[in-house]
Amino acid sequence: MDDAVDPHPIVHGPVLGDAEFEFIRHVIGENAGIVLGPNKRQLVQGRLGRRLRELGLSSYAAYCDHVRESGPEELVRLINALTTNVTAFFRENHHFEALASYMLPEAMQRNAASRRIRLWSAGCSTGEEPYCLAMTAIEAIGSSARWDLKILATDIDSNVVASAQGGIYPVERLEAVPQGRLSRFFHKGRNEQTGRAMLKREVRDRVTFRTLNLLHNWPMRGPFDVIFCRNVMIYFDQPTRERLVRRFAELLVPGGYLCIGHSESIHHGTAPLRLVGKTIYRRNTGDSHD
Ligand SMILES: C[S@@+](CC[C@H](N)C(=O)[O-])C[C@H]1O[C@@H](n2cnc3c(N)ncnc32)[C@H](O)[C@@H]1O
Repeated sequence: MDDAVDPHPIVHGPVLGDAEFEFIRHVIGENAGIVLGPNKRQLVQGRLGRRLRELGLSSYAAYCDHVRESGPEELVRLINALTTNVTAFFRENHHFEALASYMLPEAMQRNAASRRIRLWSAGCSTGEEPYCLAMTAIEAIGSSARWDLKILATDIDSNVVASAQGGIYPVERLEAVPQGRLSRFFHKGRNEQTGRAMLKREVRDRVTFRTLNLLHNWPMRGPFDVIFCRNVMIYFDQPTRERLVRRFAELLVPGGYLCIGHSESIHHGTAPLRLVGKTIYRRNTGDSHD
């Protein structure tokens, strides 16, 4: 038998039993909209093991009691531990190309009087996506003060939001950033920051980070010219996705765009949105050719 495949792997630390797994699935579904399938037990156990050790708890039953008793504070930690934050600079780059080639030029034409451009990265994780929106927009419209360009970046996970705010990344994470953008938009770290790079103030100043649960009320009124909500809805159930898409559409300016992740789609008729490119939807303007 291949000894690399152990049918009975040794599990270190407390084991997540059925009832506790069900409780955690329920809590995370109700509070974050995240659907954890039955196959995610090992993942949950792996991600929460550290928290149990920090709390000095020897069982998941004790941890579930702690979640019940301590309320919102532990709930935030539980959600932070169970979100999947995979992201990258210029991930699904066709969206940034579309932003530069027609989304921003159209917004500039539409907003010629107000000179305001508003973009939203919903589910921004550690900040790569909103900073790419900022870099692309600065290139497209110029960095002059003539345009009031603001990017809102939100995520449910307060840890990733805090890290994103710093705008500092290990250089290995910048492999997809072309040399021209690296030298224009990043400071190379020195001394104790060697091996890291920091976004220049010009980019950081355009992005406002906030912790926001997409299932809750949204404090902003919009309208946004472009919303990126990529690789977030994949974790939600269908009714939650459809509700969210309708809310995004309401906050988009007519003619504005919603970009979603490569494995996501929006059912025709869910909202006044039309598919105009690969995972790119445009809000109807009310014109007859919509
Ligand atoms: C896989 S990352 C996607 C990051 C980025 N949009 C991208 O495509 O590279 C998904 C993000 O969605 C966030 N998220 C999950 N549920 C959320 C919710 N209910 N409200 C807001 N953000 C949520 C997670 O914390 C995570 O950072």
